[in-house]
Amino acid sequence: MKKQFLLLLAVIITACSSPDPGSDIISLKEGWKIQKGDNPEYADPQYNDTKWTVIEPGRPWETQNINSLVEYDGYAWYRITFFLPEDIRKNSYFGEELQITLGKIDDTEQTYLNGELLGINNTLIDEANRDSIIFEGDPKAYSYFRNYILPANDERIKWGEKNVIAIRVHDHGGGGGMVSPSPTISMVDIKEYLSMDVESDPFEIMGAHYTKNIRFKNDHEKQDFAGLLTIKASRYTDGKVLYETSERIMVKANGRYEHLFSFSSPNSESFKIEYIFTIDEADYPVYKFQGAPYILTPPAPEEPRINGADVFGVRPGHPLLYTIPVSGNRPMTFAVEGLPDGITLDSINGFLRGSVKQEGDYTVTLIASNNLGEDKKSFTIKVGDAIQLTPPMGWNSWNCWGLSVSDEKVRSSAKAMVESGLVNYGWSFMNIDDGWEAEKRTGSGELLSNDKFPDMNALSDYIHGLGLKLGIYSSPGPLTCGGYLGSYQHELKDARTWARWEIDYLKHDWCSYRLICPDHDDIEELQKPYRIMRASLDKTDRDIVYSLCQYGMGNVSEWGADIGANLWRTTGDIVDTWESLLTIGFGQYENTSHNKPGQFNDPDMMILGWVGWGPNLHPTRLTADEQYTHVSLWCLLSAPLLLGNDLSKMDDFTISLLTNHEILALNQDPLCKQADRVYVKDDIQIWTKELSDGSLAVGFFNMDNEVRAIQIALEAIGLGGEYLVRDLWRQSDIDEVKEEIELRLMPHGVSLLKFTEL
Ligand code: GAL
Repeated sequence: MKKQFLLLLAVIITACSSPDPGSDIISLKEGWKIQKGDNPEYADPQYNDTKWTVIEPGRPWETQNINSLVEYDGYAWYRITFFLPEDIRKNSYFGEELQITLGKIDDTEQTYLNGELLGINNTLIDEANRDSIIFEGDPKAYSYFRNYILPANDERIKWGEKNVIAIRVHDHGGGGGMVSPSPTISMVDIKEYLSMDVESDPFEIMGAHYTKNIRFKNDHEKQDFAGLLTIKASRYTDGKVLYETSERIMVKANGRYEHLFSFSSPNSESFKIEYIFTIDEADYPVYKFQGAPYILTPPAPEEPRINGADVFGVRPGHPLLYTIPVSGNRPMTFAVEGLPDGITLDSINGFLRGSVKQEGDYTVTLIASNNLGEDKKSFTIKVGDAIQLTPPMGWNSWNCWGLSVSDEKVRSSAKAMVESGLVNYGWSFMNIDDGWEAEKRTGSGELLSNDKFPDMNALSDYIHGLGLKLGIYSSPGPLTCGGYLGSYQHELKDARTWARWEIDYLKHDWCSYRLICPDHDDIEELQKPYRIMRASLDKTDRDIVYSLCQYGMGNVSEWGADIGANLWRTTGDIVDTWESLLTIGFGQYENTSHNKPGQFNDPDMMILGWVGWGPNLHPTRLTADEQYTHVSLWCLLSAPLLLGNDLSKMDDFTISLLTNHEILALNQDPLCKQADRVYVKDDIQIWTKELSDGSLAVGFFNMDNEVRAIQIALEAIGLGGEYLVRDLWRQSDIDEVKEEIELRLMPHGVSLLKFTEL
């Protein structure tokens, strides 16, 4: 296969736009300027600021490469000039008040509108308080969210003209300036009182039948909102309307209203649902839209199919547990030909257990059969130094339960891991994150679990009994990030405790170690605590997968493997938004080519299904297409796949994302290559991953909010010759790919193809 990734991409891109009938909001995201120092003339709307420096709101001025402000604490002024159309007042339902939303400003602030003082530290200035408000001396000012609301007929406002906002800022220390990303101006209107919540309840899908609940809340004391609610489902590709309904509804003053609807739609294509509430006598509707879930993964055959990795690593004499992952009807029977001495098979559940003393590669044949047929697969048990030869697949408690994790919650997720069938695809780790540790060690210094985990050995027996593995969490510092006990100066004791509990995985999170090592530029100091724990784990008789979590400091991907880690976080914490996925996932190109069997960059856990970081969960805020992108990218990256959702609450869509054996095979490919980003232009990114069979997996990603049609010359992604091209999500071959490929990519969506030379 040709590997010259010459970027002569012939990409022809078209967009289909979707209307967004939002309310009249003027964005003040762009157009700000800044000047260091303090001068009352800067408030004057006539002041000539053409020589001032352009600055973005949303980040402290120290971080914006403006020489004079890199290390600056003190006074500076922001200014912006914008046009304020009469229409926003005319179109407004109430028409009474204007709000200027500036967000957080670090530290104290004094805002002028058209030369007149408007407010100080979020207190609106009017005749009554004009002389009593002080600018400086408020130590909490950095935390105030500035939102000035003034009567629409206030004389400071110039309707239908240019307006100037000037902000005098004093930064007492640390970061300074406007730190919220999206300042706006709008009328105080329906949106301030009425909320339409389409996110809190998920789509319930049964075959092609969708049910969904939406919630309205009206905080206005007196005003009912009545009108027509239209719900419309339409295909992203061609706009074809799949479903449309309209109904009159009323949301009473100070009231709530829930609206349940259901419809049928072929669920194999990307489509969006629009919610349009046209309130009587309002000039614009309340509007939201969502990318609806649709299922691409074909149902698994009823006959046995052995999924999962082709290799498994274990150290000589250490206990092995491997559950043969097989989809298909139960009951199933398992057999293995060529098992090395010391390993036994549970032929009903497909569990391999035991230990092998002698180093070497033991290639065996896995056999699974049910009443419909049989499947066989060659599988190598590599007894040697290296473990976790393919990226770990499993679950971690943090993104769902946060510090509220408990024994019961781990058990219910483990049970669901099995009952949902995920275990049949190689998902195996059940990792407890922060929040399990007791307040004090024993007199002899031993770490204990807290009341939420009454018996760790019983929990690990339960998890292992299901054929799964148990992971735990600690910090090299005295305290974890959640304020629980860490392992500082107790590393060996803790490693032994975990081995006694039969733990299989350790996530070791920097947290309070920053107090011990404040210098993040000293690589040896960054490595030190991890070397100590590595040596401690080596003194136990268990294979404990070692996961470093220090957010990528000191380019950890350059040295994580050298200190004996299996995986290392390369970024800060992920959250369930497109922006987070974009920064964390698509930022991985910087760490390329360090992945090898048993050594993985870790772009953090997954954000699918019901997540929450605490006791209250919500369905992920990613659209269906963003979820396809998330799974595709993590598989292309050979990233650890650690689910972060409540497994006992998964719908068919989430399960379909996690049980596509052709997609997972990319992640578990024994070469463990991390995909390269070979093209990035005009909101299209292309990532390619070499696979052990010589084929190339190619992810075509659309970062745009609109559908994009692209046409790509194969030569441009290093392919010259004839190929079998397979759509991995749909598990179907694509005919007629000659010199170029044409694709339609959904908003924030992906097409994941495999090119095998004929
Ligand atoms: C963070 C870490 C998270 C989670 C959390 C627990 O530092 O990045 O993944 O482990 O600590 O407190």
